[in-house]
Amino acid sequence: MRIVLFGPPGAGKGTQAHRLADRFNLALIATGDIFRDNVQNETPLGQEAKKYMEKGDLVPDDIVVRMVLDRLDQPDAKGGFILDGFPRTLQQARALEEALAQQSRPLSLVMKFVVPDEVAVKRLAGRRTCRRCQRSYNVEFKPPRDESVCDVCGGELFQREDDREEMVRRRLEVYHQSTEPLEFYFWERGLLRQVDADGSEDEVTERAVAAMADIADEVQRPG
Ligand code: AP5
Repeated sequence: MRIVLFGPPGAGKGTQAHRLADRFNLALIATGDIFRDNVQNETPLGQEAKKYMEKGDLVPDDIVVRMVLDRLDQPDAKGGFILDGFPRTLQQARALEEALAQQSRPLSLVMKFVVPDEVAVKRLAGRRTCRRCQRSYNVEFKPPRDESVCDVCGGELFQREDDREEMVRRRLEVYHQSTEPLEFYFWERGLLRQVDADGSEDEVTERAVAAMADIADEVQRPG
Protein backbone atom coordinates (compact mmCIF):
# COMPACT_ATOMS: atom_id res chain seq x y z
CA MET A 1 0.00 0.00 0.00
CA ARG A 2 1.19 3.48 -0.91
CA ILE A 3 -1.03 5.95 0.85
CA VAL A 4 -1.40 9.72 1.12
CA LEU A 5 -3.23 11.33 4.06
CA PHE A 6 -4.43 14.82 3.54
CA GLY A 7 -6.73 17.17 5.37
CA PRO A 8 -6.58 20.37 7.44
CA PRO A 9 -4.19 20.91 10.34
CA GLY A 10 -5.75 19.20 13.36
CA ALA A 11 -7.69 16.63 11.33
CA GLY A 12 -5.75 13.86 13.07
CA LYS A 13 -3.52 12.85 10.14
CA GLY A 14 -0.44 12.37 12.30
CA THR A 15 -2.35 10.41 14.93
CA GLN A 16 -3.86 8.07 12.37
CA ALA A 17 -0.64 7.83 10.33
CA HIS A 18 1.14 6.35 13.37
CA ARG A 19 -1.70 3.90 14.02
CA LEU A 20 -1.93 2.73 10.40
CA ALA A 21 1.83 2.52 9.89
CA ASP A 22 2.17 0.34 13.02
CA ARG A 23 -0.81 -1.84 12.10
CA PHE A 24 0.18 -2.45 8.46
CA ASN A 25 3.94 -2.18 8.83
CA LEU A 26 4.31 0.77 6.47
CA ALA A 27 7.05 3.41 6.43
CA LEU A 28 5.73 6.68 7.85
CA ILE A 29 6.89 9.81 6.08
CA ALA A 30 5.61 13.02 7.67
CA THR A 31 7.04 16.17 6.10
CA GLY A 32 6.18 18.41 9.07
CA ASP A 33 8.06 16.03 11.42
CA ILE A 34 11.11 15.93 9.13
CA PHE A 35 11.18 19.73 9.00
CA ARG A 36 10.78 20.05 12.79
CA ASP A 37 13.69 17.61 13.32
CA ASN A 38 15.83 19.72 11.01
CA VAL A 39 14.80 22.95 12.73
CA GLN A 40 15.68 21.47 16.11
CA ASN A 41 19.07 20.26 14.85
CA GLU A 42 19.71 23.62 13.14
CA THR A 43 20.56 22.04 9.79
CA PRO A 44 20.62 24.23 6.63
CA LEU A 45 17.31 22.61 5.61
CA GLY A 46 15.83 23.42 9.02
CA GLN A 47 17.04 27.03 8.88
CA GLU A 48 15.38 27.47 5.49
CA ALA A 49 12.13 25.69 6.43
CA LYS A 50 11.80 27.67 9.68
CA LYS A 51 11.34 30.94 7.79
CA TYR A 52 8.08 29.60 6.32
CA MET A 53 6.87 27.37 9.15
CA GLU A 54 6.96 30.16 11.72
CA LYS A 55 4.53 32.15 9.56
CA GLY A 56 2.25 29.17 8.91
CA ASP A 57 3.19 29.23 5.21
CA LEU A 58 4.23 26.35 3.00
CA VAL A 59 7.90 25.56 2.50
CA PRO A 60 8.75 26.05 -1.23
CA ASP A 61 7.94 23.10 -3.47
CA ASP A 62 11.46 22.43 -4.75
CA ILE A 63 12.79 21.96 -1.19
CA VAL A 64 9.95 19.67 -0.10
CA VAL A 65 9.90 17.58 -3.28
CA ARG A 66 13.64 16.87 -3.17
CA MET A 67 13.42 15.89 0.48
CA VAL A 68 10.45 13.53 0.01
CA LEU A 69 11.76 11.84 -3.13
CA ASP A 70 15.06 11.12 -1.35
CA ARG A 71 13.15 9.68 1.58
CA LEU A 72 11.02 7.47 -0.71
CA ASP A 73 14.22 5.94 -2.07
CA GLN A 74 15.18 4.56 1.36
CA PRO A 75 14.82 0.77 1.66
CA ASP A 76 12.04 0.87 4.29
CA ALA A 77 9.74 2.78 1.92
CA LYS A 78 9.99 0.13 -0.79
CA GLY A 79 7.51 -2.15 0.97
CA GLY A 80 4.82 0.53 1.20
CA PHE A 81 4.45 3.91 2.87
CA ILE A 82 2.13 6.49 4.34
CA LEU A 83 2.73 10.09 3.38
CA ASP A 84 1.43 12.52 6.00
CA GLY A 85 1.35 16.16 4.89
CA PHE A 86 2.64 15.65 1.35
CA PRO A 87 1.73 16.53 -1.36
CA ARG A 88 0.24 19.89 -0.44
CA THR A 89 0.32 21.68 -3.81
CA LEU A 90 -0.38 20.69 -7.38
CA GLN A 91 3.33 20.92 -8.21
CA GLN A 92 4.15 18.51 -5.36
CA ALA A 93 1.40 16.12 -6.48
CA ARG A 94 2.68 16.07 -10.05
CA ALA A 95 6.30 15.52 -8.96
CA LEU A 96 5.23 12.61 -6.76
CA GLU A 97 3.10 11.03 -9.47
CA GLU A 98 5.94 11.27 -11.98
CA ALA A 99 8.56 9.83 -9.64
CA LEU A 100 6.35 6.90 -8.61
CA ALA A 101 5.35 6.20 -12.23
CA GLN A 102 9.03 5.93 -13.16
CA GLN A 103 9.40 3.21 -10.54
CA SER A 104 6.11 1.48 -11.50
CA ARG A 105 4.78 1.88 -7.97
CA PRO A 106 1.84 4.28 -8.22
CA LEU A 107 -0.21 5.50 -5.26
CA SER A 108 -2.87 3.07 -4.00
CA LEU A 109 -5.07 5.47 -2.07
CA VAL A 110 -5.49 9.09 -0.97
CA MET A 111 -7.55 9.63 2.16
CA LYS A 112 -8.99 13.06 2.79
CA PHE A 113 -9.67 13.53 6.51
CA VAL A 114 -12.70 15.76 6.87
CA VAL A 115 -13.35 17.84 10.03
CA PRO A 116 -14.94 21.25 10.57
CA ASP A 117 -12.36 24.03 11.08
CA GLU A 118 -13.63 24.72 14.60
CA VAL A 119 -12.96 21.11 15.67
CA ALA A 120 -9.45 21.39 14.26
CA VAL A 121 -8.78 24.65 16.13
CA LYS A 122 -9.98 23.13 19.40
CA ARG A 123 -7.84 20.01 18.95
CA LEU A 124 -4.68 21.99 18.17
CA ALA A 125 -5.09 24.27 21.18
CA GLY A 126 -4.60 21.25 23.44
CA ARG A 127 -2.03 19.33 21.43
CA ARG A 128 1.25 18.17 22.95
CA THR A 129 3.83 16.46 20.71
CA CYS A 130 6.63 14.06 21.58
CA ARG A 131 10.04 15.45 20.72
CA ARG A 132 11.43 11.97 20.13
CA CYS A 133 8.75 9.91 18.28
CA GLN A 134 6.44 12.78 17.21
CA ARG A 135 3.28 11.16 18.59
CA SER A 136 0.43 13.56 19.41
CA TYR A 137 -1.40 13.86 22.71
CA ASN A 138 -4.11 16.23 23.79
CA VAL A 139 -4.61 17.75 27.22
CA GLU A 140 -8.38 17.51 26.76
CA PHE A 141 -9.03 14.51 24.50
CA LYS A 142 -6.00 12.26 25.05
CA PRO A 143 -3.94 13.25 28.06
CA PRO A 144 -0.62 11.45 28.52
CA ARG A 145 -0.16 9.55 31.80
CA ASP A 146 2.50 12.09 32.83
CA GLU A 147 1.80 15.58 31.45
CA SER A 148 5.31 16.09 30.04
CA VAL A 149 6.35 12.54 29.05
CA CYS A 150 5.38 10.39 26.03
CA ASP A 151 3.52 7.21 27.09
CA VAL A 152 5.11 5.23 24.25
CA CYS A 153 8.80 6.22 24.10
CA GLY A 154 9.36 8.34 27.22
CA GLY A 155 10.34 11.40 25.13
CA GLU A 156 9.65 14.96 26.28
CA LEU A 157 6.29 16.48 25.27
CA PHE A 158 6.17 20.04 23.96
CA GLN A 159 3.66 22.50 22.54
CA ARG A 160 4.26 23.44 18.91
CA GLU A 161 4.90 27.14 18.18
CA ASP A 162 2.50 27.02 15.23
CA ASP A 163 -0.38 25.80 17.43
CA ARG A 164 -1.09 29.33 18.66
CA GLU A 165 -4.62 30.24 17.54
CA GLU A 166 -3.67 32.98 15.04
CA MET A 167 -1.10 30.63 13.45
CA VAL A 168 -3.65 27.82 13.29
CA ARG A 169 -6.08 30.17 11.48
CA ARG A 170 -3.35 31.08 9.00
CA ARG A 171 -2.52 27.38 8.39
CA LEU A 172 -6.20 26.63 7.81
CA GLU A 173 -6.37 29.47 5.29
CA VAL A 174 -3.30 28.11 3.46
CA TYR A 175 -4.84 24.62 3.51
CA HIS A 176 -8.14 25.75 1.98
CA GLN A 177 -6.35 27.84 -0.63
CA SER A 178 -3.44 25.64 -1.74
CA THR A 179 -4.05 22.07 -0.59
CA GLU A 180 -7.77 21.38 -0.57
CA PRO A 181 -8.06 21.88 -4.36
CA LEU A 182 -5.91 18.73 -4.75
CA GLU A 183 -9.05 16.80 -3.91
CA PHE A 184 -10.18 17.10 -7.53
CA TYR A 185 -6.77 16.01 -8.85
CA PHE A 186 -6.88 12.79 -6.83
CA TRP A 187 -10.60 12.21 -7.47
CA GLU A 188 -9.97 12.36 -11.26
CA ARG A 189 -7.43 9.58 -10.82
CA GLY A 190 -9.84 7.39 -8.87
CA LEU A 191 -7.61 7.52 -5.76
CA LEU A 192 -9.67 9.65 -3.39
CA ARG A 193 -11.65 8.41 -0.39
CA GLN A 194 -13.22 10.80 2.12
CA VAL A 195 -12.82 9.79 5.75
CA ASP A 196 -15.03 11.42 8.36
CA ALA A 197 -12.39 12.41 10.93
CA ASP A 198 -14.83 13.94 13.43
CA GLY A 199 -15.12 11.09 15.91
CA SER A 200 -13.01 9.23 18.44
CA GLU A 201 -9.52 8.10 17.41
CA ASP A 202 -10.72 4.48 17.27
CA GLU A 203 -13.72 5.37 15.09
CA VAL A 204 -11.52 7.28 12.66
CA THR A 205 -9.03 4.40 12.49
CA GLU A 206 -11.81 1.96 11.63
CA ARG A 207 -13.09 4.29 8.89
CA ALA A 208 -9.57 4.60 7.45
CA VAL A 209 -9.05 0.83 7.57
CA ALA A 210 -12.42 0.38 5.76
CA ALA A 211 -11.23 2.77 3.02
CA MET A 212 -8.02 0.73 2.68
CA ALA A 213 -9.99 -2.52 2.46
CA ASP A 214 -12.24 -0.99 -0.16
CA ILE A 215 -9.25 -0.19 -2.37
CA ALA A 216 -7.69 -3.62 -1.81
CA ASP A 217 -10.99 -5.23 -2.92
CA GLU A 218 -11.09 -3.14 -6.07
CA VAL A 219 -7.52 -4.08 -6.98
CA GLN A 220 -8.25 -7.80 -6.53
CA ARG A 221 -11.67 -7.83 -8.25
CA PRO A 222 -11.41 -9.58 -11.65
CA GLY A 223 -12.23 -7.60 -14.82
P1 AP5 B 1 2.51 19.54 9.58
O1 AP5 B 1 3.31 19.11 10.74
O2 AP5 B 1 2.27 18.57 8.47
O3 AP5 B 1 1.17 20.13 10.15
P2 AP5 B 1 -0.34 20.08 9.63
O4 AP5 B 1 -0.64 19.50 8.31
O5 AP5 B 1 -0.74 21.50 9.81
O6 AP5 B 1 -0.99 19.03 10.51
P3 AP5 B 1 -0.96 18.93 12.04
O7 AP5 B 1 0.27 18.19 12.47
O8 AP5 B 1 -1.17 20.28 12.68
O9 AP5 B 1 -2.31 18.11 12.34
P4 AP5 B 1 -2.66 16.58 12.19
O10 AP5 B 1 -3.77 16.46 11.21
O11 AP5 B 1 -1.45 15.74 11.95
O12 AP5 B 1 -3.27 16.32 13.63
P5 AP5 B 1 -2.75 15.42 14.86
O13 AP5 B 1 -2.89 13.97 14.55
O14 AP5 B 1 -1.44 15.89 15.38
O15 AP5 B 1 3.18 20.83 8.88
C1 AP5 B 1 3.71 21.89 9.65
C2 AP5 B 1 4.34 22.91 8.72
O16 AP5 B 1 5.43 22.31 7.96
C3 AP5 B 1 3.41 23.51 7.65
O17 AP5 B 1 2.65 24.56 8.14
C4 AP5 B 1 4.43 23.93 6.57
O18 AP5 B 1 5.06 25.14 6.90
C5 AP5 B 1 5.47 22.82 6.62
N1 AP5 B 1 5.17 21.71 5.68
C6 AP5 B 1 4.91 20.42 6.00
N2 AP5 B 1 4.67 19.70 4.90
C7 AP5 B 1 4.78 20.54 3.84
C8 AP5 B 1 4.63 20.39 2.43
N3 AP5 B 1 4.28 19.21 1.87
N4 AP5 B 1 4.80 21.47 1.64
C9 AP5 B 1 5.14 22.67 2.17
N5 AP5 B 1 5.30 22.89 3.50
C10 AP5 B 1 5.12 21.83 4.33
O19 AP5 B 1 -3.91 15.78 15.92
C11 AP5 B 1 -4.06 17.11 16.40
C12 AP5 B 1 -4.55 17.07 17.85
O20 AP5 B 1 -5.86 16.48 17.89
C13 AP5 B 1 -3.68 16.22 18.78
O21 AP5 B 1 -3.68 16.81 20.04
C14 AP5 B 1 -4.41 14.86 18.83
O22 AP5 B 1 -4.18 14.17 20.05
C15 AP5 B 1 -5.87 15.30 18.71
N6 AP5 B 1 -6.69 14.32 18.00
C16 AP5 B 1 -6.36 13.57 16.90
N7 AP5 B 1 -7.39 12.80 16.53
C17 AP5 B 1 -8.41 13.07 17.41
C18 AP5 B 1 -9.75 12.60 17.55
N8 AP5 B 1 -10.26 11.69 16.70
N9 AP5 B 1 -10.51 13.11 18.56
C19 AP5 B 1 -10.02 14.04 19.41
N10 AP5 B 1 -8.75 14.52 19.33
C20 AP5 B 1 -7.96 14.05 18.34
